[in-house]
Amino acid sequence: MKIGKDLTVNRIGLGTNRIVDDEVSAQALRKAVELGVNFIDTAAAYTGGSSEAAIGKTLSNTKNVVIATKGGMLPPPDWAVDSSPEMLSKQLEASLKNLRTSSIDLYFLHRVDPKVPLKESIGFLKQMKEDGKIKNVGLSEVTIDQIEEARKMVDIVAVENEYNLTTKHHDSVVDYCGKNGLAFVPFFPLHFQIKDSGLFERLRNRYQATDQQLALAWLLKRSPAMLPIPGSLSMEHLRQNVNSLKIDLSEADFDSMSSI
Ligand SMILES: NC(=O)c1ccc[n+]([C@@H]2O[C@H](COP(=O)([O-])OP(=O)(O)OC[C@H]3O[C@@H](n4cnc5c(N)ncnc54)[C@H](OP(=O)(O)O)[C@@H]3O)[C@@H](O)[C@H]2O)c1
Repeated sequence: MKIGKDLTVNRIGLGTNRIVDDEVSAQALRKAVELGVNFIDTAAAYTGGSSEAAIGKTLSNTKNVVIATKGGMLPPPDWAVDSSPEMLSKQLEASLKNLRTSSIDLYFLHRVDPKVPLKESIGFLKQMKEDGKIKNVGLSEVTIDQIEEARKMVDIVAVENEYNLTTKHHDSVVDYCGKNGLAFVPFFPLHFQIKDSGLFERLRNRYQATDQQLALAWLLKRSPAMLPIPGSLSMEHLRQNVNSLKIDLSEADFDSMSSI
């Protein structure tokens, strides 16, 4: 699929909020790319900058991998929001250094900051795009009104909101992205709760797939704009997640899953 005009990616990406600068993480990053994953989602806040540093160290010489990062949120445990131009600037400079690049493929505003007018945060990102430090701008955990306000100032190519089989309060944002040519990146794609285990038992047998693979296949069928980013450090799970691209859910099974 395309993100904006210039980025082309496979429709299963990799979430990296547990990635650190060690060999287990490096192996997971290398394995994901070997399996065909070429969209990596990280953030300045993840593991206090180690996620970005590990990605920079492991993948900065790998061609055709799109790295998306985010600014505007401080590291755990507080995950405090600060989307002031000062904090965005500080985090962007750290991201460029950690990712070992002079320009970030896709930069998300991690959160809209209630203390900072959206215009100020977006104005800063627009300026960074003009300066060449970021190539594309995205938004995370936003409403349609916020997307529209931001789009008046700068091209927005992707939205990253929480969404999965059983967390669907952003349904209208998914549809908006599909209609307007924005990628929709669902975070926590595997944080679903299954109540009807009978349905999943039947589907597991029918598609020879795990519940997680079925949930990813459901997301992929939900909208052509959908770009799930399951996070995994397991070689087997990485393989299964990529293989979910091969599952072709019937309309009837998609509908049954939609109503659980
Ligand atoms: N924009 C935002 O505000 C925001 C917020 C939260 C997260 N995110 C992004 O979204 C990404 C995804 O979220 P997440 O990683 O927290 O949650 P997730 O992808 O929904 O789930 C990850 C969990 O599922 C397991 N898993 C992965 N593949 C599996 C499979 N095939 N079968 C069974 N278990 C599997 C992982 O463990 P194993 O390691 O054992 O596979 C891990 O425990 C994050 O990594 C981050 O990049 C963004």
